[in-house]
Amino acid sequence: MARFSGKVVLITGGARGQGAAEARLLVAEGARVVLGDLLEEQGRALAEELGPAARFLRQDVTQEADWAAAVAMAEAMGGLHGMVNNAGIYVPKRLMETDAALFERHMRVNQLGCFLGMQAVVPAMERSGGGSIVNISSTAGLRGSPGAIAYSGTKWALRGMTKAAALDLAPRGIRVNSVHPGPIETEMVQVWSNAQRVERLARIPMGRIGQAEEVARAVLFLLSDDSSYMTGAELAVDGGATL
Ligand SMILES: NC(=O)c1ccc[n+]([C@@H]2O[C@H](COP(=O)([O-])OP(=O)(O)OC[C@H]3O[C@@H](n4cnc5c(N)ncnc54)[C@H](O)[C@@H]3O)[C@@H](O)[C@H]2O)c1
Repeated sequence: MARFSGKVVLITGGARGQGAAEARLLVAEGARVVLGDLLEEQGRALAEELGPAARFLRQDVTQEADWAAAVAMAEAMGGLHGMVNNAGIYVPKRLMETDAALFERHMRVNQLGCFLGMQAVVPAMERSGGGSIVNISSTAGLRGSPGAIAYSGTKWALRGMTKAAALDLAPRGIRVNSVHPGPIETEMVQVWSNAQRVERLARIPMGRIGQAEEVARAVLFLLSDDSSYMTGAELAVDGGATL
């Protein structure tokens, strides 16, 4: 039987990049998925491509009402067994170039969005007999990251929030883990100049950038019963960049 048969998973930022790769793998393994994102055209196109196992909704992770709608959509599809807090923004600026508005924008999407999401899914996961939450942090949450003070702050926060939530939710049958990707070939890193890209590559022992599917496979492991005794853990998927 397929590993995710009968399971429903909600993925934020699911219209493209790593979220889309996770959706494809999950559906291939028998799951039904709810894709939340601000990008309506791409999100709807992906849901159409994936067929009846996928539904898209326009969701802003900073808005509580949007979370309620996403959870309701999942329950209408058969419950809620997994959730990936994948939505994120990355507008890299050094400390002295970052203003309060940019700092707060990162906090709202990357950090508050994750908090609201973990809170929103708990009752539905309990009704489904337990669940697994995966928070997408970054190697920027494991060590210093150049020229991205606001982003780094939120990704370190996710690491701590994951452990705090893992403690709170273990008695409720919900596991919470974080994934820490290194540089991954998605739209997000298109902001880098060639020189920045070369500099990032030089820090990766495996000598290459990662692909979205390589992160998606790790996320599926944490969503699945294969990781049934893991909670509060942090999994780096980074070609050795944090060694
Ligand atoms: N690409 C990398 O190198 C890299 C490295 C480490 C961690 N990450 C993290 O991985 C996650 C996925 O990023 P990606 O690489 O697929 O990039 P991406 O930019 O393709 O995907 C991010 C998605 O989040 C969505 N999003 C942004 N703000 C939102 C909001 N307020 N509400 C709902 N959706 C919103 C975007 O529309 C987009 O679809 C992010 O959390 C990112 O920080 C990426």
